[in-house]
Amino acid sequence: MIIFKTARDLQQYLDKTRGGETMTDQRTGAGFVPTMGALHDGHLSLLKSSGSENAVTVCSIFVNPAQFNDPKDFEKYPSTLEQDIYKLETIGCDVLFLPSVKEIYPNGIGERKDYDLGYLDTILEGKFRPGHFYGVCMAVERLLAIVLPDILYLGQKDFQQCMIIKRLIQLMGLEKRIQTKICPILREKDGLAMSSRNMRLKGEQRAKATSLYEALVFLKENLNKGSILDLKNEAVKILEQKKFKTDYVEIADVKTLWPINEWDSRTNIVGLVAAYIDGVRLIDNMVLN
Ligand code: PAF
Repeated sequence: MIIFKTARDLQQYLDKTRGGETMTDQRTGAGFVPTMGALHDGHLSLLKSSGSENAVTVCSIFVNPAQFNDPKDFEKYPSTLEQDIYKLETIGCDVLFLPSVKEIYPNGIGERKDYDLGYLDTILEGKFRPGHFYGVCMAVERLLAIVLPDILYLGQKDFQQCMIIKRLIQLMGLEKRIQTKICPILREKDGLAMSSRNMRLKGEQRAKATSLYEALVFLKENLNKGSILDLKNEAVKILEQKKFKTDYVEIADVKTLWPINEWDSRTNIVGLVAAYIDGVRLIDNMVLN
């Protein structure tokens, strides 16, 4: 695996690769998996998919300060670079991009841009983490411009982020150039969705953390046509019993992510949960029908 720290060096390498100099097999194109490190099997599954579908796979690790609306969350975000590099080597990732803040934000982190994200930025994560998706867009726009991948791999765990990034790709006018693949959530044996933040969970917190999954399974198993308000409230209670502070339990249209209170039994819907256990914020989601 080659590690690049500057956009210029990475772009030079990718230009050569695309030109065919280092292409060794039938697969063409570049797959890209952007991450913030602390890699787990969920990330690795994205990288494996990319490896099997592209001539070159690029992983980026950049803990993006602009997307942390809570400074404590940024300070405590796990960093395991040595293990990450080992894992990437083991699964045969071709390129790791490890940019500095200056490389991603050449005009400074305070630079403001306009992203027309519409209502997507005002609901669910957008509502509870003001500015978060703006920060995601700032970093991902720059990363996409540098890597210009053929296929971008994203995890379904961040359901709303996937929609935001697809919108960003449209805003960049690259929807014909970059294909997006959303890979399924990977779960621990007890159902907890894999996440870098899980590293912060200790003993009892870790045991309780499965409640997010339980709340989603509850939604799925008890879903009926008509009002789903009580159903959502019952799911909140599952979390509260375990002392979670719930930001939201929502049920939304899969296509638009618009939250609904009545279900017609036909619309495809997704359950989404965000809750804190002792200051660690976890999210999860599940397609319900
Ligand atoms: O999902 C993440 O890890 C981050 O939000 C991303 C997409 C790498 C942007 O910083």
